Amino acid sequence: MSNDGVNKGRRRLLIGATSAVGAVGAVGAAVPFVASWNPSAKAKTAGAPVKADISKLEDGQQMIVKWRGKPVWIVRRGPEALANLAKLDGKLADPKSEVPQQPDYIPHTDARALRDDIAVMVGICTHLGCSPTYRPEIAPEDLGEDWVGGFYCPCHGSRFDLSGRVMKGVPAPKNLVIPPHYYESDNVIIVGVDQETA
Ligand code: FES
Repeated sequence: MSNDGVNKGRRRLLIGATSAVGAVGAVGAAVPFVASWNPSAKAKTAGAPVKADISKLEDGQQMIVKWRGKPVWIVRRGPEALANLAKLDGKLADPKSEVPQQPDYIPHTDARALRDDIAVMVGICTHLGCSPTYRPEIAPEDLGEDWVGGFYCPCHGSRFDLSGRVMKGVPAPKNLVIPPHYYESDNVIIVGVDQETA
């Protein structure tokens, strides 16, 4: 009798242990998948890629994701904004983006982007590291009649167009940096890694 009691108790214990292992196994299997798309704050600071869903981003709107502790701007540009980029050449310090500030696969065009309608850039001024302000308006009073939308750095007045190209005669020496990125689908950008190495 007493043996039976021990065995029953042992069986219960074993069943309990098996269930517990099963549960841990299930969580263990699920975590790596979730973790790869939901990196911890520590992993993000260390440079893990970040996923950006642009499905709700409308023409003229900006969204910001954080990568390596820096703001990465994503801006959707409509036809008028894109047409205005072409008018700025004479005012830009590096209109063809010859100073290396972008991955090789980003075209050296006015749009400076994998997709003309979407600009992706690191929102840190190339002068002393302030974060410029998104100013999409046309000819606002404080920026002047020839302003056709872009980014204005409040620290020392540097100006950039909607592709992050720096204007002539401002303190910032270079265009804004474009981070490595690629499109996982039409509406999802992976920021922080090249497609080939993803
Ligand atoms: S930090 Fe932007 S102009 Fe100086």
